[in-house]
Order: sequence, then C-alpha cells, then structure tokens
Amino acid sequence: MSLARGSAVVLVWVVLLAGCEPWGKPAAPQKEIAEDFQTLFRENCSGCHGEDGRGGPGRILNDGLYLAFIPKASLRKVIEEGRKGTAMPAWARSEGGPLTEEQISVLVDGMEKNWAKKVNLRGAALPAYEAGAVTGDEMRGNKLYLRDCFACHAKGGIAGPLTEPAYLALTTKQNLRTSIVVGRPDLGMPDYRVLNRGRPLSEQDIADLVTYLMGKAASK
Ligand code: HEC
Ligand code: HEC
Repeated sequence: MSLARGSAVVLVWVVLLAGCEPWGKPAAPQKEIAEDFQTLFRENCSGCHGEDGRGGPGRILNDGLYLAFIPKASLRKVIEEGRKGTAMPAWARSEGGPLTEEQISVLVDGMEKNWAKKVNLRGAALPAYEAGAVTGDEMRGNKLYLRDCFACHAKGGIAGPLTEPAYLALTTKQNLRTSIVVGRPDLGMPDYRVLNRGRPLSEQDIADLVTYLMGKAASK
C-alpha cells in the first residue's frame, strides 16, 4: 500500500473515531464578525491597503491629506460599491459584498476618527475629489509627465512605469487623480503641493496628466 493511501485510511479512521461528521451537517455557528475598527480593517482591508492603512500595494488610506481630499460620502460610496474593473471589491451586502451597513459605518468613522488630521496646504488650493469641468489636454499632459513624473516612473526607476497599458487597464481615472493629489507619502512619492518642481500642480495640470495617462490605456 502506498504511503498516501495509507495515510488516507488513517485519516478516515481518525475522523470516524472522533465522531466528526465532515459532510452534510452544518458547521459550528458562524463566528460573530468583529465590530471594532481595527479588527474590521485588518481582516478586510489591510491585505491591499497595508497594515494600519499604509505601506500596502494599494493606495494609502491612513493619511491626513487623503482624508481631507475625499468627502465622507465618497469614501462611503467607494467602500460600498468598490471600483468595477479593478481589484477593489464591493463591500456592502446590497452590492453582493460581505459587510453590513453598520460595519461600513464603523470603517468610515474609524478612518476619519483615527487617521484624519489637520493638514497645512502651504497656500495651495485643495483640488476637488472628483474631476470638475476642466478638460484635460493630452499633449500638455505628456510634457508634464516627462517633467514631473518620469524621473521616478521611468522603466527601471524607483516606481513602476505608469504608461503600461497593463497597469492602466486595472485602474481608474479617479485613482490616478487621487494618486497625483495625495502621492504615496508611505513609499516616497510627493503630493500635488510640490510635484510641479517644488510648487503645486494646478487643476489644469492634474486634468492634463490624467488625460495623458488614460490615453495610453486606450492606445493598446
Ligand atoms: C520622487 C519619486 C516620484 C515622483 C516624482 C512621482 N512618483 Fe508616483 N510613485 C512613486 C512611488 C515610490 C510610488 C509607489 C510605488 C509604485 O506604485 O510603483 C508611486 C506611485 C504612483 C501611483 C500608484 C499609486 C497607488 O497607490 O496606486 C501613481 C498613479 C503615480 N505614482 C502617479 C504619479 C504621477 C502622475 C506623477 C507625476 C505628476 C508621479 N507619480 C511622480 C514615486 C514618485
Ligand atoms: C484585493 C485588494 C483590495 C482590498 C481587499 C480592498 N481594497 Fe480598497 N482599493 C483597492 C484598489 C486596487 C483600489 C484602487 C481602485 C481604482 O483604481 O480606482 C482601491 C481603492 C480604495 C479606495 C478609494 C481610493 C480613491 O481613489 O480615493 C478606498 C477608500 C478603499 N479602497 C477602501 C478600502 C477599504 C475600507 C477596504 C476594506 C473594507 C478595502 N479598500 C479593501 C484594492 C483593495
């Protein structure tokens, strides 16, 4: 008898002797899902957004500038609905996700209570979370990209190249806009207040950059 079959037989005996019924019967009652912010965040979000909301592969959330930038209603909406076509899933039960309305409130309130802080905008205007009426200019965006981003985002640079269609296919305009405004202070990317050669990027600059990058996503 092979070793594998031998251990399978032993396993069946152990199961029978222990009186378990591995098939057919419902398992033990479902563990109550934790209601405190730290646990909810750790169990559902930190895999992508980092331990304590920083340093993960996905966007930094534990950041004063980010929480000043995103209105509470938008924060709630993106958690409830997720972002279609990206790795960000929908969390609300009404959207097919696992969390109750109450648990989402704990997350939203917890992020604001624990992570929001007063930020010094150093005289720069805080851009609106969602892009407004400004129309982006792709050519100008290309120039700004080479001037303000390329030093870090070139192939082989300290950060990943952003003009790769494979990267752009999995992200959204809003995520690009958010990244340009907020940066990645946990990973060494500066924010909009200084990205224009030490000075703030304007609404027009941000729109141009996003339009340029999204154009790369479309062109195969
Ligand atoms: C001083 C270096 C530096 C500069 C300048 C810089 N970045 Fe970054 N950027 C980074 C690093 C580091 C990361 C995080 C690692 C990564 O995603 O590759 C990052 C990440 C990003 C991300 C992904 C963020 C996320 O969390 O999903 C976007 C989008 C981005 N940068 C856009 C830009 C744009 C547009 C510019 C120019 C306006 C720019 N960056 C300028 C260093 C830089
Ligand atoms: C499997 C990975 C993954 C998990 C788990 C995840 N996220 Fe995300 N999240 C993402 C990605 C990727 C994005 C960027 C989506 C895009 O490109 O627009 C994102 C975006 C977001 C944004 C919006 C960022 C912006 O543009 O302003 C918020 C807020 C957010 N996530 C919160 C959460 C919370 C809270 C949880 C836990 C309940 C969570 N995420 C779990 C991957 C994830």
